Order: sequence, then structure tokens, then C-alpha cells
Amino acid sequence: MKKAVLHTDKYFGSTDIDKRVYGSFAEHMGRLVYGGLYQPGHPTADENGFRQDVIDLVKEQGVTTVRYPGGNFVSAYRWEDTVGPRELRPVCTEPAWKSLESNQFGLNEFMTWCKKTNIEPMMAINLGTRGADAARGVLEYCNFNVGKYAEMRKSHGYADPHNVKMWCLGNEMDGVWQIGHRSADEYGSIAVQTGRLMKRLDPTLELIACGSAGVVVPTFCAWDATVMEHCYDTADYISVHTYFDNRNKNEQDSANFIAASNALDNQIKSVIATVDHVRAKLRKKTYVNLSVDEWNVVYRPHGKVPPQEWTFAPHEIEDVYNLEDALLVASLMMTMLRHADRVKIACQAQLVNVISPIMTSDNGVWRQTIYYPFADMSRYARGRVLPMAVECEKYEAGIYGDANYIDALLTETPEEETLALFVVNRELHDSTEITLDLRQYEGYKVVSHSVLNSEGLRDVNTEAEPNKVAPHAGNAKVEDGILTAVLENHSYNCIVLKKA
Ligand code: AHR
Repeated sequence: MKKAVLHTDKYFGSTDIDKRVYGSFAEHMGRLVYGGLYQPGHPTADENGFRQDVIDLVKEQGVTTVRYPGGNFVSAYRWEDTVGPRELRPVCTEPAWKSLESNQFGLNEFMTWCKKTNIEPMMAINLGTRGADAARGVLEYCNFNVGKYAEMRKSHGYADPHNVKMWCLGNEMDGVWQIGHRSADEYGSIAVQTGRLMKRLDPTLELIACGSAGVVVPTFCAWDATVMEHCYDTADYISVHTYFDNRNKNEQDSANFIAASNALDNQIKSVIATVDHVRAKLRKKTYVNLSVDEWNVVYRPHGKVPPQEWTFAPHEIEDVYNLEDALLVASLMMTMLRHADRVKIACQAQLVNVISPIMTSDNGVWRQTIYYPFADMSRYARGRVLPMAVECEKYEAGIYGDANYIDALLTETPEEETLALFVVNRELHDSTEITLDLRQYEGYKVVSHSVLNSEGLRDVNTEAEPNKVAPHAGNAKVEDGILTAVLENHSYNCIVLKKA
């Protein structure tokens, strides 16, 4: 058995967690909206056609905010086609994903769904085929009480404004795949003009400028610097997007893959360094923070099943996640939480059916493996991140460099007198005994230790076997102020302590 010693000290500072890091993303893509959020006639559908079984799982998962309506989809989005009487809404071709869009679930339906699910909406605007004028229209439609667009909303049956605070200024505009892809200067210029107009209309908005679509984009960080030079005074956040994939399924790759959070750590540090460089150069006092508004494990490339274009709600990138994906998702979330001073918003891509923790069929819903770490952290990591040092063995994780066998994060919710310890044991063959001296937290006892593990790293949950990979109880305990637990090989653990 391996051993690891964890250390914390509450006097060494802590970082508050913004609850919007437990966000998700709902793009009009595949079966996310149609067959996921919305399915009139489904046995659980409410009077709006919203699937209640999906709402129940989204609530249980603890999703706090949802980015909408894309993604690549937003770069050809016409919000006007999505509002008003349903029978008058056009069926449109959707060029980003080459599907058909019925517009039966539109802007107002999304806002109603958010209200019902107790979720804060985050809107993206189209800076691909459109610009400041369309942004003004959709903003006034959503947030205003007076004027043409507010009257239009009222005539559609929505008397009260939706009051959307967070707005993304386009999506992945650095990507050559993006409809309306631009250079950094062109994008920076349109983003600042649009953002200024939006803040003139509503100064309380929080705007997110497009950062690089990932480290693989050749202009990574150069793009971000140029965009920030244009937008520093207008954007409150810069976006970070990141996807991870274990293509070669041999064991060494698994060990490397579950350490890929090192790359996210590096990406976040690089973007912080870039925006802070611009801050120094422009002699600014304020900080621009990060919105990691697309992140997940994705097994790309793969297309529609069956491979037909221009159909409604095709099966598209419906990845089936396994145990090792869940281990990485846990480490990705811990990585973002370690940067809680700068990462204020994060959206897992995506919410249901499309690269998602929640899957549906006509008959039911089920939780994928990656659902569990998200649900735990949203539930228990709500207060602040405590300092943590980990003494353990390391291994060489290929392109991800040196990796600790034990990846751990400790959080505290003071008003509930609760501590939560999240740990991934990356040792694939052996269990690991961890100890953590908690004598500073007198009287705290373990109330739960949940373990996500399975015999095989490639084990998955399916509709036929939805609980193949599901949490079971672990053995953590506190004696004389010292927490100990024996962690199973390749396991994710959530240990919750409360003052007795
Ligand atoms: O999440 C799927 C797609 O990935 C999004 O539409 C796009 O922004 C990203 O490239």
C-alpha cells in the first residue's frame, strides 16, 4: 500500500468559491434541447414540454448556471426566429452543425426552463454573422421594460424582463471552424464596440470576451493579448475552452490521461499571465477574470448517427464516459477550484445527451460516470478553498509531466461548519493510505465518505446498466484530530466532515 500525507493550515489563507463555477452549457445541438430539455408528450413533460426527469437530475447535479444557445450554433443564431407564437416560428437550416432547427424551444422557453430549475442563465450573442445591433435587440428583449423590444417580449406573453446578467461576446471567434471567424484585431474591435453598447444599455452586465478556443489553436495567448488590449475596460472575463481525449486505450495512456489536469492548470496560468501582462502594460487597476465556459472530456472526431445532415435533433457526439473520464473530470474541477481567485465561472460542456453527464432515452434518464464528481463538488465545495500540500510519490505522465499519485483539494463551508476533502487516487494498482492532521478543526467528524470506483477503468453506465459505476461508502475516520482513509486504486473520493 502507498502512503500520502496531506497538510492544511487555516491561517495560511483561503479563497472564496464563486458558485457559478458549477455551470453547464446547453447548445442547440444533437439531442440536447429536443429530446433532452424539451420533449412534449413525454410521460414526465410538464405543461411547457420540459422533461421533469431531466430537471430533477440537473437539480440533483447542482448545476448553478447554464450558457446558451451555443457554442458554434450561436455564430449564425437569429434570436428573433425563436420567439413569438410557436406556429409562426420558421424551420431553419442550422449551418454550424448542419441540422434542422424547428425553433419550438426558443429564448423565452430557455428562460422559463432556467427559472423552473433555479438556474442563472448566461447568454451568448452572435458575433459571427451579426453584430452590435442584433446584440442590442436581444439584450433589450431580455432585460428592458420599455422600448420596441421590451414591448415585443410583453406581446409574447412575458411581462417581466428576464434580467440576464452574464453575456458572452460571441464564441470561439479565433477558430477557423467558426462561422464568421475573424482575426484577433477584427474580433477585438467588434467585441469592444458591441460590449460598450451593451453596457451603455445596462451597466450591470458582466461580459465575457472570447479567449482562445484552446491551447491547440496556433494563436493561443497571442489572440488573448490582442483581444484584451481592445476590451480591457469592457470585458469582465475572458473565456477559456478545453477538451481532453484519451484516444489510445492502453494502460500507460490511462495513467497519463488522468493527469491531464496538469495541462488545464498550465492553460489557466498562461491565460492569467497574458491578461495580467496587458493589465500591467495598460496600467489598469482592475483584474479581468476567467470564465472556463467550455470544458470536458470529449472523444472527437465523430459525427451524426446515422450520418445524415439536415435532420432534426440527430444523435451527435453522445460520448459514453467511463471511470477514467470521471477521475479526470474530478481533477479538472479541483484544478479550477485551486484557481478560484481568478476562475469565477465554469461551464461543463454540455448538459444533457451531447458530451454530457446526463443521458436520456424516450424511456428514462441515467447518470454517466462524470456526473458524480460534479454533483459532489457543487454540493459540498461551496464556501472556500483551503491551502493544501500533498506529500506523495509522483510518476511520469508523458506529455502531462510529473504527476502526484494523489490529487487532493480541501474546502470549508464555515456557516455549515463543514469541511470537504476531494481526492483522486491515480495509483492504478494499489490502494493508498492518506492522513490529514485536522487538529485545528476540533470536533470535526466524518459524516460521509463516498467512493467512485469500478473493477475496470473502462467501465461505463448505460441505459441497460445505469449503476455499473456508482458511489459506495469508504472508510475515512477521524481519531484524535487525525483523518485517515485507505483509498482504493483508481478511485475518486469525497469525504465530508462536520463539527459534532
Ligand atoms: O461543445 C461543442 C462545441 O465545441 C461548441 O459548440 C464549440 O464552441 C466547441 O468547439
